Amino acid sequence: MTDHEFGDQHTELKLSIVEKYLHFFTTALRKKFPELWYIDAFAGTGYRTIRHEAIPANLIDAGEPERIERRRGSAKIAIDVTPRFDFLVFIENKPSYVRALEDLRARHPDRRIAVVKNDANEGLKSLLASNSWRSTRAVLFLDPYGMEVDWSTLVAIAKTQAIDVWYLFSLAGFYRQATRDHADLDEDKRAALTRMLGTNEWERELYSANTTFDLFGGDDGVSLRREADLVALEAYAKKRLETIFGAVLDPLPLPLHEGPQRFSLFFCISSQNPAAIKLARNVGNHILKAGISS
Ligand SMILES: C[S@@+](CC[C@H](N)C(=O)[O-])C[C@H]1O[C@@H](n2cnc3c(N)ncnc32)[C@H](O)[C@@H]1O
Repeated sequence: MTDHEFGDQHTELKLSIVEKYLHFFTTALRKKFPELWYIDAFAGTGYRTIRHEAIPANLIDAGEPERIERRRGSAKIAIDVTPRFDFLVFIENKPSYVRALEDLRARHPDRRIAVVKNDANEGLKSLLASNSWRSTRAVLFLDPYGMEVDWSTLVAIAKTQAIDVWYLFSLAGFYRQATRDHADLDEDKRAALTRMLGTNEWERELYSANTTFDLFGGDDGVSLRREADLVALEAYAKKRLETIFGAVLDPLPLPLHEGPQRFSLFFCISSQNPAAIKLARNVGNHILKAGISS
């Protein structure tokens, strides 16, 4: 058994939101499209392991030993969704996790499941290019640890006009790479940000001149600084996504109840059809609002 230990309460919330949408999707589109797909580009193992620390005994309670709990991850959740998806694609680059996904597939011989050992960006691009997307509709879950999703991959997804995307955007990664002081930016940081945002305009748009003064109030020179806080960076990311998708909903901040915010769970609709956008938007907003008040 391959252990994939990750996440906390925000993982639970994220997965419950995606699960709700998957159920809506297969229910609403079952009769309209012959092929409904689920694509998980950072698939993990199908399960996650949660370690509950031991609780020491005290005068009142007997305490509890350490406990290991196994819960379903996104891949297994998608397999279990009813009505069923016709085809499920699990992309993962870690060999031991790929083997766990192959075991998962073997336990569901009646299902069409592809396990792809590849980088998420490469695996997705070749999958998207190999299908016509006329009679297929899909939900894609992008659940990376950090800033692994390339903008060029998002463009390829949006072009299908057939895929609804749940994208866990790394706001902490954005914040860290776009250093407050412009002088701290290096070529690696610039490249990572441009790869994630699809433009190098962020450097001009996020940094502004700031006059600094010496101890005696004299003008010490002009430096460039990023004044944008987490809220503004999230708004910037949303604005970028809106340039390629039919619609992008206000994201769910994660973790929800304790700061600082590390992720923004975006729902991006690649369809440009107003009726399809309206339906996906209504359902997505409903699920996100329920998540916020949870
Ligand atoms: C947060 S976990 C995903 C968890 C999964 N959604 C679940 O609920 O079980 C991120 C996964 O992405 C994989 N990963 C990281 N970078 C990757 C890449 N460039 N291409 C494919 N998989 C990657 C990691 O090995 C890990 O399994």
